[in-house]
Amino acid sequence: MKVFITGGGGMLGHRLARALATRGKLVDESGTLQAITQIKVFDTGFPAERDARLVYVQGDLAAPGALADAMDADTDTVFHLAAVVSAGAEAEFDLGMRINIEGTRTVLELCRRLNAPPRVLFTSSVAAFGGAMPDVLDDATTPTPQSSYGTQKVIGEYLVNDYTRKGFIDGRSMRLPTIVVRPGRPNLAASSFASSVLREPLNGEISKCPVADSTGVWLLSPARAIDAFMHAHDLPAAAWGSYRVVNLPGITATVREMVDALGRIAGRERAALVQDVPDERIRAIVKTWPTKLRTPRANAMGFKADPDIEAVIRAHIADHDIKL
Ligand SMILES: NC(=O)c1ccc[n+]([C@@H]2O[C@H](COP(=O)([O-])OP(=O)(O)OC[C@H]3O[C@@H](n4cnc5c(N)ncnc54)[C@H](O)[C@@H]3O)[C@@H](O)[C@H]2O)c1
Repeated sequence: MKVFITGGGGMLGHRLARALATRGKLVDESGTLQAITQIKVFDTGFPAERDARLVYVQGDLAAPGALADAMDADTDTVFHLAAVVSAGAEAEFDLGMRINIEGTRTVLELCRRLNAPPRVLFTSSVAAFGGAMPDVLDDATTPTPQSSYGTQKVIGEYLVNDYTRKGFIDGRSMRLPTIVVRPGRPNLAASSFASSVLREPLNGEISKCPVADSTGVWLLSPARAIDAFMHAHDLPAAAWGSYRVVNLPGITATVREMVDALGRIAGRERAALVQDVPDERIRAIVKTWPTKLRTPRANAMGFKADPDIEAVIRAHIADHDIKL
C-alpha cells in the first residue's frame, strides 16, 4: 500500500510516518492487512533528522501543481495533516483560508482523481467547539467554532463527508484534543502552556503559565493520537456510517493537577519551576474551549484515551529519554 502524509514534517505527521514504517502494514478496503510499500511525507520543511524508510517531498500545498506532482496515482491512503494551526490561522486570516480550506479542497480533488478512491484521514480539532457550551459536551453537541481555525476545520469535516458521500474518497475526520506533551520549544499556539507546564520543568527550565491553575485542558498524548490515526484508518467503512466525524476520547486535567502529577513523578523542585504569569489574551481564548467531552461513539469504535495525566508525563519522559 502507498501512503501519503501532508504535513508529514510536522510534530504529529513525522511521528505518524515513523510509526507506520515500524508497523509496516495497514488494513485495506477488504479488511486485509497489507504491507506498506511506500510512505511519502509532503511538507514545506522537515526535521533535521531524516528517516531512511520515508520518501521526503518538499513542497507547498498552495503552490500550483506541487501536490499533484508529489502524489502517485496509485496512492491508497492519504493522511491530511498539513494546516496553519490555531494562533497562526487567527493572526493570518488569508493564509488560514488558503491552506486550511483551499488546501484541503486541493487534497480532496487530487484524491478524487486517483486510480481508486483512497482512504483519507483528516485531523480536525476540538476547536470545532467554542463559545457558550454545556459543561460536558457529547457527540450530539453542534460545532460552534469561535476562531477562524475552528471554522476552517469544521468546513474541512463537511468536505470530507461530502466527498465520501459522493464515493470520491473513503474519508474519516478526527477531532483531536490538545496534544500534550508536545516536544520542542514553546510555540505561539494559545494551548502552548498545556505542554510547557510539564515539558520545561522536566528539562530543568522555568515555565511561565499564562492561565489560572484551575484551568482545565481536554488532552491526549502524541502516542495515543498516532494510535488513533492508525485505528481510524483500519476501521471498516461500515463502522463510520454516513457521518465521518468522531470526537476522539481524551482526559481532562487542570493545570494544578498537571503540576501536582509532575511533582509526584519528577520531584517538588521541578514542579516549583512553574510560575504564574497571567496573560489576559491567552486566558480569554482558553476560556472558550471545551474541557470535558463524553465520547460514546469513539469509545464504541475502539478509540482509547490515556489512562491519566501521570501516564502522559511518564510517556513523555520515556519517549525523550529524560533523566530525573
Ligand atoms: N497538536 C495539537 O494539539 C492538535 C490539536 C488538534 C488538531 N491538530 C491538527 O493535527 C494536525 C497536525 O498537527 P501538529 O501538531 O503536528 O502541527 P504541526 O504544525 O507540527 O504540523 C503541521 C504541518 O503542516 C505543515 N504545513 C503548513 N502549511 C503547509 C503548506 N502550505 N504546505 C505543506 N505543508 C504545510 C507545516 O509545515 C507543519 O509541518 C494539524 O492539522 C492540526 O490542525 C493538532
